Amino acid sequence: MPQVTVTRRVRFNAAHRLHNPDLSDAENRQLFGLCNSPNFHGHNYELEIAVRGTPDARTGYVMDLSELARTADAVIVEPLDHRNLNLDVDFLRGINPTVENLVVACWRELLPRVTSGRLYRLRLWETENNYAEYEGD
Ligand code: NI
Repeated sequence: MPQVTVTRRVRFNAAHRLHNPDLSDAENRQLFGLCNSPNFHGHNYELEIAVRGTPDARTGYVMDLSELARTADAVIVEPLDHRNLNLDVDFLRGINPTVENLVVACWRELLPRVTSGRLYRLRLWETENNYAEYEGD
């Protein structure tokens, strides 16, 4: 049976600060540079949500992309858009919001909500040039 990957892209704008409270201020500055600035800074994030499976015989869909769009809006965009990722988001509590940690947190939020096909890969863009990918553990 053919395995097909479908992808929905969503965007959100958010503020963050990279900081590990277990390290000294000097170590944090050295590790994270400008991203450690105490008063936060912003990114225009893009998250690509890929779902893989066999197209359904009746619908031709791996997963209805309009359903995936609604799920992505509810699970990712609404909680994260125009928020401070260090302070405002329950599922990011206690997480240093690097792009790596964010993509794993997004995976955990989305996984139980993908009801046909399987969540296959997330790619989270933090800048035009940097992204992190996660395919589960
Ligand atoms: Ni940053």
